Amino acid sequence: MNPLPEHVAIIMDGNGRWAAARGGRRGDGHRQGAEAVRRVVRAARELGIPVLTLYAFSAQNWQRPASEIADLMRLLHRFVIEERSELAARGIRLTTIGEPARLPAFVRGPLAALTEATRANRGMTLCLALSYGARESIVRAAQRLARAVATGRLRPEAIGEAQLAAALDTRALPPPDLVIRTSGEQRLSNFMLWEAAYAELYFTDVMWPDFGRDELLAALAAYGRRQRRFGRITESVA
Ligand code: FPP
Repeated sequence: MNPLPEHVAIIMDGNGRWAAARGGRRGDGHRQGAEAVRRVVRAARELGIPVLTLYAFSAQNWQRPASEIADLMRLLHRFVIEERSELAARGIRLTTIGEPARLPAFVRGPLAALTEATRANRGMTLCLALSYGARESIVRAAQRLARAVATGRLRPEAIGEAQLAAALDTRALPPPDLVIRTSGEQRLSNFMLWEAAYAELYFTDVMWPDFGRDELLAALAAYGRRQRRFGRITESVA
């Protein structure tokens, strides 16, 4: 049995299909998706998961219809305002990866304020991936390293895995042990491509708005049964 993962990352998928199946608008699915976010944050905190990352808005999601982007931004804003006391009460630290600077000001402001206000919390880290793309993060890391080389602070030969990892958006987080994707889709969609090199992947047909504590427990149970070999053979792992 594996111990509890240190970092669980979730690709929240299926909001649109959940709404369509009920004759609703995509925004209804996102609204219920935000409720699932609240449930899962609470459950993860209670279960003692140190880091939870949620893929809330990808760099590619800017290509969605403006009305849907507006719905998602409103939900994010509401979450950041309404969860303030919850995060404080439960000792949850909020962080972000991606390019939150691209978000509209009415989201960016309260998001930055909540990030700052929860900085010292140690109960759990909740990381929201916002305007996030793994390739974009790798490109930013390459630019950072190139600047360091260009200014003589770094020798090209000194660049190894550790230096690249330390230049990614996720530099302050442990790599994800478990990546969950809901809604039956089985792909990473530009999420943590470097960091998830040895993550266990868990796919479920449950749509994100229906995801909650029980589904998280099922994913954790499956993770517990996996053998993580990191390239070694079974005998040397045992
Ligand atoms: C994927 O479903 C989901 C998203 C692109 C957005 C996720 C956003 C939320 C869960 C709500 C807001 C977030 C927070 C943190 C409050 P989809 O729309 O791609 O579903 P589909 O594949 O069925 O169309």
